[in-house]
This record gives sequence, structure tokens and C-alpha cells, in this order.
Amino acid sequence: MSSPAPARRVLSGMRPTGRLHLGNYHGALRNWVELQYQYECYFFVADWHMLTTGYEDTSHLQEHIRDVLIDWLAAGLNPGVATLFIQSHVPEHAELHLLLSMITPLGWLERVPSYKDQQEQLKEKDLATYGFLGYPLLQAADILVYRAAYVPVGEDQVAHVELTRETARRFNHLYGREPDFEAKAERAVKSLGGRNTTTYKQLRRKFQEAGDTEALQRAQALVQSNNRITVADRERLLGYLEGTGVTILPEPQVLLTQTPKVPGLDGRKMSKSYGNTIGLREEPDEVVKKLRAMQTDPARVRRTDPGDPEKCPVFDLHRVYSDEAVRSWAVAGCRSAGIGCLECKAPLIEKVVEEIKGMRKRAQEFEENPELVRGIVAEGADKAREVARATLDEVRGAMHLRAD
Ligand code: TRP
Ligand code: SF4
Repeated sequence: MSSPAPARRVLSGMRPTGRLHLGNYHGALRNWVELQYQYECYFFVADWHMLTTGYEDTSHLQEHIRDVLIDWLAAGLNPGVATLFIQSHVPEHAELHLLLSMITPLGWLERVPSYKDQQEQLKEKDLATYGFLGYPLLQAADILVYRAAYVPVGEDQVAHVELTRETARRFNHLYGREPDFEAKAERAVKSLGGRNTTTYKQLRRKFQEAGDTEALQRAQALVQSNNRITVADRERLLGYLEGTGVTILPEPQVLLTQTPKVPGLDGRKMSKSYGNTIGLREEPDEVVKKLRAMQTDPARVRRTDPGDPEKCPVFDLHRVYSDEAVRSWAVAGCRSAGIGCLECKAPLIEKVVEEIKGMRKRAQEFEENPELVRGIVAEGADKAREVARATLDEVRGAMHLRAD
């Protein structure tokens, strides 16, 4: 209970769909690699989430988990700074999911857009299951069990983080009451110390008397960034700002990943289900072959036809990989039919192959020594569990599930 307040914790997860591709890398992983040096990061493989749609055949699950983990390490996730683990190794996620399920109206889950969408898209599977309906709530538990401040995800996951926020709010409203809250909160204000105490009081008054939301945000930032107060006091101070009670489960925010469009080999979005991907650790020769055959502007049939880079998926890849000089060279050469498509692809192929070679090199020691990967996630789960246990301890207490 007296551990220092986690100021800026980041959490995200990925389902173990098998080997990752360049779309996954530029859409999420690359961002995680940067975040790990700026925040306290927790990244996990969501194996339970995988079961919500893939419950029928789980025979490749372990292989897929291992492949994803090696891809993470190959992409540059550093277990020395970020905590990497597997969801099912931290059973607290499941316990919090169960407890939250008691207070979550069915309508909230039925209204999440991905619920109906996915059922439509995956018609061949029976997704009218209890587990699939609960997918976003399990995700909420994943996030809340670490009291994460930020969740880096793409556009498609925003609704899930929104549900997480609503769930946290409801939980705090129901259980975030302490008998002597006011007195404890006032003591916590004093413990901020000197100028911070004064600033907190001023900002709180501004918000409560004038509804100044900027003051609220500044006060929240002041509390969040204070490392000297205890977790419990931090919750009281956050709750006291809005006059509600203790914030046991803080509301996370989305860190929207700026995702470049990564086209697949056929011009559609790169996706495993389209079979149009380039793997993160694919054979360089195979990568070259694939890129040479990649779809270009369909209107450019002959070498002498001018093309339009705006209608060419190869040019979308140039946007991801090439600098301004190469891009303008490609645009000019394409529009004037000055260069051929293979010529246009050459600098791109070089960049992609170079990137993939780096990944393969970093992956090698983990491919050769699976016990290294097992060690990393064992350590990760230990660290994650420590945080998760502390949250569950407070949650159980707040719900009177503990006799004390
Ligand atoms: N639903 C996410 C996806 O499909 C994966 C996920 C599970 C997740 N739990 C999470 C992402 C918690 C962020 C936070 O991409
Ligand atoms: Fe696409 Fe380049 Fe060919 Fe133009 S020259 S169609 S941009 S590959």
C-alpha cells in the first residue's frame, strides 16, 4: 500500500495470431519500442483473448505465443526496460474480469461495435458465446489491473478503452467510498508538501466552484507526477478533486498510434487474413521476390505508360520507408514514365530488406535458445503480478471481499 504512485504507466496487448508482419510492426510495435524508453511499459500476449474467437483449435497456441514474443524482441522491445509477459500467467486479470462482470450491464457489451462486426465477419464461427461478449471487459480488466494511465492502440480499439473508462467510473462510484474519506483526503493534500499543497487547493477550488476543467486536468497532472505520495493517497487526491470518493481504478487514456497505411502485396491493407503480408523475419530472398511482384498502379500497363503514385500501393510503402528525395524522384519518374516500376521499387526493396535483416539478426539468439524467451516472460509475469496483486488487494477490500 505504500509503494510510490506510478506516474505514467503504459499498457498494451496483442493477440497471438502467429508470426507478425510489417503491418503489425509499423502499426503498433514500432511505437511500443519508442514508448518503452519514455514510460513504465507493460506489454503482454493476450492468449485468453485469442480463445474468444479461436477456441475450437488451440493446438498451435504455444507456437503462436512464442512467435509473437520473438517478433517483439526482434523488433526491439527490450525486456530490460519494458515488462513483457503472457496474460494467462497473471491470473489476476481473470479475477478482476469476474468481479467487473458483476457490475457491467449487458447493454454496454452488446453496444460495442466490434461485437456485431466480428460476428458478421467471422460467420463461420459461433461467436454467440459468453466469452466473446466479454472480450472488451476482459480487456478492461487487463488495463485496470495495472491502473495504466495510457493505452497505445489503433483506432479499432478506441471503443474498448472507452468501455474501460466507463467500467472504472462505475466501479469507483459503487465502491470508492471510505468512511473517513474527507479527513484522509485532507491529510493527503498536506502530504503533497509546500507549494504543491497550495496549488492543489487552488486548482480544486477552481474546478469545484467554476467547473474549470483545465484546472482539473492540471491538478490531476500534479497528483500523477508526484512520486512521493502513496498509491492510496494518490487515489484519494484524484477522487477528492471531483468530490466523489476514492479513485480505486483510474480511467486510462488512449494513446492513439499514428499508423501509416501499410499496404499488402495486393494493394489491400496488409493483413494475415488476406495472405498479402511480408513477415518481420522472412527470408530476404523471399522478400525481394514478393516486392518485385507487388501490385502497382493498375493503369500503368506498359513501361511507356505514365503512372499515378496516388493510385499505387508501392508508393504507400515509399511513404513508410523512403525519404523526401527518393519520394520526389519516384513521383517525377512515375508521372513522366521516366522510370520503370522495378526501378522505382529498388530503393524500397533495399530499405525493407535491411530492416528485416536487422530483425532476423536480433531474433537469432532467441530462436536458438527458447529458454531465453521463457525466462523473459517468467520474469515479466513476476513483475506484472506484483502490481496486479496490489490492485486486487484494494479491489477486494473495497468490495468487502476481505474480512478485516
Ligand atoms: N484487443 C486488442 C487487439 O485485438 C488486444 C488487447 C487485449 C489489448 N487486451 C488489451 C490491447 C489491453 C490494449 C490493452 O488488438
Ligand atoms: Fe507505382 Fe513506382 Fe510504378 Fe509509379 S513507378 S506505378 S509509383 S511502382
